[in-house]
Amino acid sequence: MSTLALLGGEPVRTKPWPVWPDVREDDLAAVREALSSGKWWQHEGEHVTAFEREFAAYHDSKYGVAVNSGTTALQMALEALKVGPGDEVIVPAYTFQGTAASVLLANAVPVFADVEADTMNIDPESVQGRITDRTRAIMPVHLAGLPAAMDRLLEIAEARGLLVIEDAAQAHGAVWRGRKVGALGDAGCFSFQASKNLPSGEGGLIVTDDEEVWARASGLRNCGRVEGRPFSEHHLLGYNFRLTEMQGALLRSRLVHLEAETDRRYRNGRWLTQQLLQVPGVTPLDAEPGEGDRRAYHLYPIRLEPEELGNLSRERFMAALSAEGIPCMAGYGRPLYRNPVFEDGSFCPQGCPLSCAFYHGDASYGETSCPVTEDLCERVVWLFHSLLLGSEHDTADIVRAVEKIVQAHQELLAA
Ligand SMILES: Cc1ncc(COP(=O)(O)O)c(C=O)c1O
Repeated sequence: MSTLALLGGEPVRTKPWPVWPDVREDDLAAVREALSSGKWWQHEGEHVTAFEREFAAYHDSKYGVAVNSGTTALQMALEALKVGPGDEVIVPAYTFQGTAASVLLANAVPVFADVEADTMNIDPESVQGRITDRTRAIMPVHLAGLPAAMDRLLEIAEARGLLVIEDAAQAHGAVWRGRKVGALGDAGCFSFQASKNLPSGEGGLIVTDDEEVWARASGLRNCGRVEGRPFSEHHLLGYNFRLTEMQGALLRSRLVHLEAETDRRYRNGRWLTQQLLQVPGVTPLDAEPGEGDRRAYHLYPIRLEPEELGNLSRERFMAALSAEGIPCMAGYGRPLYRNPVFEDGSFCPQGCPLSCAFYHGDASYGETSCPVTEDLCERVVWLFHSLLLGSEHDTADIVRAVEKIVQAHQELLAA
């Protein structure tokens, strides 16, 4: 057995990994063209509007509304669907802050549901248990690019008359039963923040088939202007949440490569899962794809099984993996409801929207308990998607490093 790199041995890998975001000549040319046109905002230029059309078409959706972030996309989708004061929206407890923050920003109340231990996605049974007569919407997150259990969630939503707003911030290009995620519910929201599989530094977009939702969302993000009325008229209480033309141009240039990149990550990700399933002490959090499914692998999550590793800590495992040349990070460190902002419930000085006169529930987050999420927060390790953009040889380095650590875990514990 070779010595672990953390204990002075040779690392499995010294070669660098693909860089993300990478910068290509066509990206530079696209941004240069947008810059030199002098038309820097959507009202004058063509790129943001063209990207809205192209990204919607990629999803077989009728409409796209580009905004300045994924959080904004979620907030705009909620507001366009008229979710607001007094309404509850069920969100997973294992997700990024923006999922639940968007609900509060729309003056509605997020209610946290637990997730499935094997996928980290919202658990439909937990959703069922959280529904009240105040519930207006379910917001599934396709976490780490893995489509949520949409058949059950859509069924529940239909039976209970609820909206479905997909948080697809981590799932560009993911396909569920032959349909792109984001286009499965009433509205789907994406993020183009720099780490995402389709990045433009910052940015977001809503896809929808509903003309009214499109009209409201595009007016809300554009200072309340509405299509077909004079530019100087403001009909809605709007925001300026627009994307710039330089971002629009960059996104159009990068969208051309999304399919090929998603396929490459998918091939490497599936192969990695098949290999890691044979290694004791670690569980790849992946799902056997059904007919017409394709995960987008924004992250590759691995759950540690400490009882098979002599209670090796996640921190020690990650230090050993990094030392072998495999960069990694801890998954979310606490359920979203355990963040001070939710525990304090101090969203605004008056306590709205929780103590709003329209709200008749009790969403005090101190009482919330999602045991599966709490457990996952202790023992999930993430690999970044760029590690799946190499060759099968590169992916094999991940397997060799994990196997090496698992085999030598006693030495790590003793050191
Ligand atoms: C699941 C999820 N939802 C929402 C967001 C918010 O996107 P943004 O950072 O663009 O506001 C993110 C971004 O990391 C995310 O991962």
